[in-house]
Order: sequence, then C-alpha cells, then structure tokens
Amino acid sequence: MLVRPARHEDVPQLMAIERSAARAFAQRPERAWLAQGEVLAVDAHRMFIETACSWVAENAQGELLGFICARLEGRALHIEELSVRLEAQGQGVGRRLLDEAVAVARRRCLQQLTLTTFADVPWNAPFYARYGFELMASEQLSPRLSAVLASERAHGLEGRCAMRLVLA
Ligand SMILES: CC(C)(COP(=O)(O)OP(=O)(O)OC[C@H]1O[C@@H](n2cnc3c(N)ncnc32)[C@H](O)[C@@H]1OP(=O)(O)O)[C@@H](O)C(=O)NCCC(=O)NCCS
Repeated sequence: MLVRPARHEDVPQLMAIERSAARAFAQRPERAWLAQGEVLAVDAHRMFIETACSWVAENAQGELLGFICARLEGRALHIEELSVRLEAQGQGVGRRLLDEAVAVARRRCLQQLTLTTFADVPWNAPFYARYGFELMASEQLSPRLSAVLASERAHGLEGRCAMRLVLA
C-alpha cells in the first residue's frame, strides 16, 4: 500500500470512498441514517488538496482504498475526515493514513492533531484513543473546537466529542 498526496483527479473517488465508508453505520440502528448521509463537497476536497492537507491510500493495483483530509488551524492539524472503503476496513489502512497525517504535522512543526468524532462508535473515539488521541474535557476545548461541536449538534449529530494528539 502506498500513501500519497491526493490529486484533483482523485476527487470523484474520494467521494465514493466516503459513501462506501459510511455504510459501516448501517449496522448501528441509532446512527443508520448516516449511511446515507452527505459527503464532503467537491470544493471542500479541492481546498484540502490545494493546501496540501489531503492524502490517499492506494493499493498495488492503483485502486484508492481510503483518504484523510485536514486543515491547518494555527499550530494544530485538524482532521476533517478519515474514510476507508467498506471492503478495506479493519486491515490497517486507517492507521496508516493517520500515521501520514502525524508525520506531516511533525515535519511542519505543529503542536497537535485534533478531531471530532462519535464517542460511542467502536471505530470512532475508541479507535483514535488506541492510536493515542486523548478525549478533551469541555474545559479543555478551544473556542474553535467548541464551535465545531456546536455546529455538529446543530446539524443533528449527537454524541460527538473532541480529541487531540499532542506531538512531543
Ligand atoms: C474509522 C476508519 C477510518 C478506520 O479505518 P480502518 O482501516 O478500518 O482501521 P484499521 O484497519 O487501521 O483499524 C484500526 C482499529 O480500528 C478497529 N476497527 C476497524 N473497523 C472496526 C469496526 N467496524 N468495528 C470495531 N473496530 C473496528 C480495528 O480492529 C483496529 O483496532 P486496533 O486499533 O486495536 O488495531 C474506518 O473504519 C471507516 O472509514 N469508518 C467509517 C467512516 C468513519 O467513521 N470515519 C471516521 C470519522 S471520525
């Protein structure tokens, strides 16, 4: 498997990957609606690519298996989306994409990675916690992360939490 920066021509596949990844939620009745949810827009993908904050995992046949995209927020790299095609999940692709984001953040001398995710979905907060992310208590939240969580709640996403990985 190769991890490389995403390119503009990858965008239709990135959207297909996010749709496929979201099908994992179909097995959880309370969140099954997410399986049919909206995916990141073309313009958003373009912005992540143009700011050199989007990476894809590609197999030996040149098929894209997953992607991670992020945005720079001061000295933090905020992960906007991590998605792995349903058939490729559970094989280490997600971890490998996180490794890339961490490596880039270190090279750019950033202080931390942040993200928001579902606290109770096994492949969300527990997955990031095993990777080394820590759950942030409400008093630790920056105004930026509080605003992200508030916006997610306003869009009907309940049970979200913020996490961070502080880089040494
Ligand atoms: C979250 C996601 C990106 C992880 O990618 P992945 O390639 O499946 O993850 P990996 O194979 O690297 O596995 C990492 C860990 O997650 C666990 N995991 C993966 N899929 C899982 C599932 N469906 N249920 C429970 N655990 C799961 C693995 O067992 C592994 O455990 P470990 O940390 O003890 O080794 C992927 O499952 C996905 O796209 N899910 C749907 C979209 C989503 O929820 N994205 C995250 C948004 S915040």
